[in-house]
Amino acid sequence: RLLIVDFGSQVTQLIARRLRELNVYCEIHPYQNVTDAFLADFAPRAVIFSGGPDSVTRPGSPRPPKSIYDLGVPILGICYGQQVMMQDLGGHVEGGKISGGGGTAEFGRAFVTPTGRLDLLDGWFTNDREQVWMSHGDHVAKIAPGFEVYGTSPNAPFAITADAARHFYAVQFHPEVHHTPNGAKLYENFVRLAGFSGDWTMEAYREQAIAAIREQVGDKQVICALSGGVDSSVTAILIHEAIGDQLTCVFVDHGLLRQGEAEQVVTMFRDNYNLNLIHADESELFLGKLDGVSDPETKRKIIGGLFIDVFQKYADGIQGAEFLAQGTLYPDVIESVSFSGGPSVTIKSHHNVGGLPEKMGLKLVEPLRELFKDEVRALGVELGLPPSFIGRHPFPGPGLAIRCPGEITREKLEILRKADAVYIDQIRKHGLYDEIWQAFVAILPVRTVGVMGDGRTYDFACALRAVTSVDGMTADYYPFTHDFLGETATRIINEVPGINRVTYDITSKPPGTIEWE
Ligand code: XMP
Repeated sequence: RLLIVDFGSQVTQLIARRLRELNVYCEIHPYQNVTDAFLADFAPRAVIFSGGPDSVTRPGSPRPPKSIYDLGVPILGICYGQQVMMQDLGGHVEGGKISGGGGTAEFGRAFVTPTGRLDLLDGWFTNDREQVWMSHGDHVAKIAPGFEVYGTSPNAPFAITADAARHFYAVQFHPEVHHTPNGAKLYENFVRLAGFSGDWTMEAYREQAIAAIREQVGDKQVICALSGGVDSSVTAILIHEAIGDQLTCVFVDHGLLRQGEAEQVVTMFRDNYNLNLIHADESELFLGKLDGVSDPETKRKIIGGLFIDVFQKYADGIQGAEFLAQGTLYPDVIESVSFSGGPSVTIKSHHNVGGLPEKMGLKLVEPLRELFKDEVRALGVELGLPPSFIGRHPFPGPGLAIRCPGEITREKLEILRKADAVYIDQIRKHGLYDEIWQAFVAILPVRTVGVMGDGRTYDFACALRAVTSVDGMTADYYPFTHDFLGETATRIINEVPGINRVTYDITSKPPGTIEWE
């Protein structure tokens, strides 16, 4: 296994991700924990030093134990990690001067040119130079004995150095980030040099996560708010595998779900996975409080507030619950990472169930907090979730409430559910579901006149929405063919009483948003 010594970089998890992509098992440990005894026990096959916010020129700055250099295994130092290696091994690092007068601080894109052949760089330089991402204030002024320079950039004469005989590599830039486009190649070479066969899989991750959950939870009870979305579903199933009946899931049904959705969730988790599931059918409560409300933000506040009250009410009924499980993902974590005076990172969790843990005095179990969305999907497949379930479009917490502009009535919700089901059925039948980020129907707060058979109709209009997107932050409408749109409109009007007009929303985001409210 590979050891990543974390010196507090914001992108340390990206190193782990790159390694998982190479099917190499790694663990991240904060430098404070990496002692001689730890190293003897861990016995890494290779070591990576992460970047970090501190300066090695500061007395008392973070260092690994010296014995790490005597393990006889390859070491890759990145950014701060590079400077640690240089300083520890007899080189010299200086504080950077920002801009002007021979400034050596460097932030952002830079280009490295090769100055020698190095196994770590095999196949890396596609041209005579390679784009990298730099983010450093300090710089190496003198490299350590035994090291040679293999790549330079205008502001980093020692961009890539190595003691090739010992397989010690030190790079000034961050190969793990997106803006070092070929950075994965360096990790690939590094793990190959270290002798990893690349046979680690999601199955192994699952085993390890299960062991960690068991250790954290012991014989205590865990509660989990299960929405039926991918993150909470994978969280629940994984924890259930680890601790079985010590887990109770509460599925808060606000009456704003899609057609058949509540039944599907209950069937899947209760029958297929045999999970302790409380179906909290509180639709009367939610719809009652939403009666007459048409402002979008007021709707969200009412639903969010009731959700917490309801969850808490059911959770209070679960004897001895000490832990709350949450499907927090790594992007949620990294957005709220903060550094407080040095390398020790304070990580605040996103509370998907708004401040509940504090309020209820619960500890958090967050087994997905190291993973990215696509990895969670892969883990879901590993846990036996059907691919069609894993690939479902996102669905917002407030549900159909924000797809029903204006006042929400049971009649409108019923019509909306039926129209949405026909629309999604059409999309699936035409094999378009996976090309689309999100698709749904919104029922408009207007009735329009139509003619069906020989009679006049005065029914609701609806809008079809389908967008492509990578992250939901920006989006474009999906270019359906006219045939598809025509066929879908006809089906909706024929099959859904209460709708006599169908429109297609061709607004991108920005300026629109994906949802109508
Ligand atoms: P917008 O409408 O902001 O949507 O372009 C972007 C993504 O976020 C989802 N969304 C929500 N999800 N609570 C949620 O959990 C909300 O209040 C909410 N509003 C929008 C939306 O479905 C899309 O995927």
